[in-house]
Amino acid sequence: MTIQDFIPPPYTKMIENASVSYQSPSNIALVKYWGKHGEQLPQNASISFTLSNCKSETTLDFKKKTKGGYDFKVYLDGHREKEFEPKIEKFFNRVAPYLPFINEYRFVIKTQNTFPHSSGIASSASGMSALAMCLVGLESQLNDPKNERLQNKQYQLQKASFLARLGSGSAARSINGPLVVWGAHPKIKGSSDLFGTTYPYKVHDNFTNYHDTILLVDKAEKQVSSTVGHDLMHNNPYAKQRFEKANSNLEQLISIFETGDLDSFIALVESEALQLHAMMMASSPYFILMKPNTLKIIDSIWGFRKATNSKVCFTLDAGANVHVLYPSSEKQQVQQFIKNELSIFCKDGSYIDDFTGTGASTI
Ligand code: DP6
Repeated sequence: MTIQDFIPPPYTKMIENASVSYQSPSNIALVKYWGKHGEQLPQNASISFTLSNCKSETTLDFKKKTKGGYDFKVYLDGHREKEFEPKIEKFFNRVAPYLPFINEYRFVIKTQNTFPHSSGIASSASGMSALAMCLVGLESQLNDPKNERLQNKQYQLQKASFLARLGSGSAARSINGPLVVWGAHPKIKGSSDLFGTTYPYKVHDNFTNYHDTILLVDKAEKQVSSTVGHDLMHNNPYAKQRFEKANSNLEQLISIFETGDLDSFIALVESEALQLHAMMMASSPYFILMKPNTLKIIDSIWGFRKATNSKVCFTLDAGANVHVLYPSSEKQQVQQFIKNELSIFCKDGSYIDDFTGTGASTI
């Protein structure tokens, strides 16, 4: 597939006004995307677990208008969110060549998240992927109903992931599940820089319904956005080694997924999280997104693992929150440990239990 495959032929149908609704989850990367080039293209391949409970639910109302600039309004939880509109405008600019209808409709985007707005959980992956699904849902109604390629579900999901990437790179990995690769990798068939693809090889039962409890350490807005962080990789002296390491880690995961080797999984996933934050510390200007309680949690997880031989581990995204990952067979003991020993490090004791899911769907 190339970029050209996402430019549609002239639409054959006309719709005056209608509405579409989709939900799309967040995802947590095991091998991280950190560094990009061109138009939202990743410097290395990444892989993530798609989540189930943390999701955005978006309705797109649209009404035909005469041509001209974009016309849209964004509502979060029923309230107009002018703050989001520059980001959506940038997104519309990027997707316009692939969605020629975009300046022919007046849009109202109504969205809500199942996780609290102030949780510090990035809503860009779930939000952008839900919006991309809505736009593809609308386009499928404008396209020739007899055109098999355009009406093919697989093609539409690929296009949604392609568009979601243009909104936020990690959003490309939220359309499918439970394991999604984004970024061309020589050892992963079908992988592409343009969109996410479901991991195509054998995955051991140990990874079925893998759990992720998100510990909310800091609910405040981050001091450095992901977009700025990615940009700082251009001058990071360790960038080249980091991109190579991420790709080799992804290759190593292939046999780990096949055999179900949880010890190797833990070592790789925790190392990825720490390398991500090491890149932030090695950037110029440097920055640290972890908080003291992030380290206290990591230390407790290591202590618990040593004492009990549990297969619990952690990963981090670009923030202070900790994602606690564990196989479903350990659900009871790890959730007890979180409640008794980790929740004290969370803001207001709050955390969110989640597990792997299958991606976006209509509501
Ligand atoms: C640390 O996808 O949020 O979560 O493309 O600029 O929107 P933009 O960045 P974003 O970066 C996510 C970075 C990460 C790692 C990951 O999810 O792979």
